[in-house]
Amino acid sequence: GGGVILAPSILAADFANLAAAAREAEAAGAGWLHVDAFDGSWTACRNFTVGPPVVAALGRATRLPLDVHLAVAHPGRYIDALIKGGAAGITVHWEIGPETELAVLLGWIRGAGLRAGVALAPDTPLPESLVSLAARGGVDVVLLLAVAPGWGGQAFRPAVLDKVRRLRQAAGPGLHIQVDGGINAVTAAEAVAAGADVLVAGSFLYGHSKGLAAGMDELRAAVA
Ligand code: DX5
Ligand code: ZN
Repeated sequence: GGGVILAPSILAADFANLAAAAREAEAAGAGWLHVDAFDGSWTACRNFTVGPPVVAALGRATRLPLDVHLAVAHPGRYIDALIKGGAAGITVHWEIGPETELAVLLGWIRGAGLRAGVALAPDTPLPESLVSLAARGGVDVVLLLAVAPGWGGQAFRPAVLDKVRRLRQAAGPGLHIQVDGGINAVTAAEAVAAGADVLVAGSFLYGHSKGLAAGMDELRAAVA
């Protein structure tokens, strides 16, 4: 678990103090900062969070790579602005469109030098075409949600672990497999044992009774 990247999710931070939340994550050794960019347009993800202007502001507040989870019905509307805002990676949902459109979006993101990701909601079975796309290096990150998209603080759904195992087996070590939702010290260990190398954690870290840094230490110890 030494190469595991911890990505605190600012969805669980104080939205009125995001610069402080980003600096706290940076000081505690986060690898990426996870930004849930939702606009409420996708029926499966009805929360409305932050968009490109807040990503740009975070880019000025921290050196952490900004990992944007774009769970919206029309991601193409925001990709240019997120690139200009300094995002390091953009992940779009498999469920929102035909595979041809997804390929265009991934090419656009990669062409700008960012990590291109595909996310899967917990009820979506792992598509064989995504497995083969990952196996041939056509995507940099696959985000496997372990909770329903939209809100933090939900219980981890262990069915995600089979998807992690199958994907790691097919794609090999080069792919970032990110598990998002319900991560704590117990589920972090399960996700990493299954083959995940990026863990997103919101409420466990920003809601930790001893503070984010203590939560980061617990996650690192759990996956060591
Ligand atoms: C859920 C988001 C997650 C969320 C995870 O829609 O994609 O990134 O912040 O929150 P926790 O870690 O509290 O489950
Ligand atoms: Zn997310």
